[in-house]
Amino acid sequence: MVLPPQTSTPYLLTTLPAKAPLQDAMVGLKLNQLRTPALIIDRSRFAENCAKMHDKAKAFGSSFRAHVKSHKTMEGTRLQLVSSSGKSSTTIVSTMQELWQLLPLFEEGIATDVLYALPLPLTLLSDLSSFQDRITPFGGQLLIMIDHPDQVKGLEEFEKVAALDPSYESKFKCFVKVNQGGNRAGIIPSDEVLPALISTILASPVLKLFGFYCHAGNAYASTCCEDAHSYLETEVECADGAGRMATSLLAELSPSLQSKYKDTRWVLSVGSTPTAHSAGTEEDGKRAELSGDLELHAGNYPLLDLQQLSTGLATLPSVGCSVISTVISSYDLRSEKMCDAGCIAMSKDVGPEKGLGRVLNLDETTTGWRLGRVSQEHGLLVKNDKEGEAKALEIGQKIRIVPQHACITLAAYPFYYIVDSSEEDADTVVDVWVPWKGW
Ligand SMILES: Cc1ncc(COP(=O)(O)O)c(C=O)c1O
Repeated sequence: MVLPPQTSTPYLLTTLPAKAPLQDAMVGLKLNQLRTPALIIDRSRFAENCAKMHDKAKAFGSSFRAHVKSHKTMEGTRLQLVSSSGKSSTTIVSTMQELWQLLPLFEEGIATDVLYALPLPLTLLSDLSSFQDRITPFGGQLLIMIDHPDQVKGLEEFEKVAALDPSYESKFKCFVKVNQGGNRAGIIPSDEVLPALISTILASPVLKLFGFYCHAGNAYASTCCEDAHSYLETEVECADGAGRMATSLLAELSPSLQSKYKDTRWVLSVGSTPTAHSAGTEEDGKRAELSGDLELHAGNYPLLDLQQLSTGLATLPSVGCSVISTVISSYDLRSEKMCDAGCIAMSKDVGPEKGLGRVLNLDETTTGWRLGRVSQEHGLLVKNDKEGEAKALEIGQKIRIVPQHACITLAAYPFYYIVDSSEEDADTVVDVWVPWKGW
């Protein structure tokens, strides 16, 4: 195996807009005063959604691991980890930028463990290794995701020199990604690569098996709790099956390798926002003994969006983000209006609900319009199909658009305006969050 050259991007040097001058300029503004398009997060809804997820995990009888990629902010991560219902300290990232930005939370002891959730890119070994070294003094653990034997070979190659040192202890722990049917990533349970990979990991001096990870991205197709729960059960079944496989493979290995895993229980990590929302049913409480400890994970849940509303497991008053846009033109012959939110401001993601966004008034009442088509920097508003539902929209009017997929919509914005609907002045900016950009 020839290892690719290692990256050495100075992640912490990436320039982000400074928060303080933005706060000085923006806090106190009313929603209808904002330059549009503007991304709004409702802090109290975000916090409530985080508390509800901690409750879900408790009802599911599991720990909780929060993905930070949907908002990519320090403020949002803190709310995910410490809510009015509980605390968790385990996190997930999808970029190196997110990983490095979590460092202060390890220094503070708020985060104890983080999963870099892409299947291990061999270009990042040096960066991942330095991150582990930075969090070790605080008792922090970096987890990596493995779904191919070459990733283990690459890591062994990278750690070769280290492993010759008799005092060497493997610094990497890993989840094995199990494909539960969504075909996003991972190995399907019946693939003969799975037992071979588990055995390779168990025998490897540079890696320790931590558990099995399933992510039901396909559960976004759910239309009710029962649907989503059946995806969740498949996740549990697949992670548990792989855990059983690992336990029996371990029993065939040498006593010294077995001793490396003495007192270890696999972590069986399952979830996506729809399946996590469906967790905690009576059936969950009656589950037979599993091969490891359950962990629930999710990322989109503090924000929510039209895709989540379409699952029937979230309601409009709990959606924590929206885009404020301005009506800028009108085409009366074809009954369309133009607004200043195009595909950069909204994304081109679609969902079961028609259109690229649901158009509301600033006070969240319905307008009877949707975002029907988008160009780069402008969008066309079309009337909903229900006859007579559409209210008049005037040029210059500010509208609120609920995005189809919050995670992709947020990615376009250099900062988010924060409001708080639990406060009297729910349409006043109370803070500004600056997300981590780049990879
Ligand atoms: C590996 C992984 N884990 C967890 C999540 C979080 O899923 P969701 O945003 O549906 O909660 C994602 C989302 O894309 C993911 O890719």
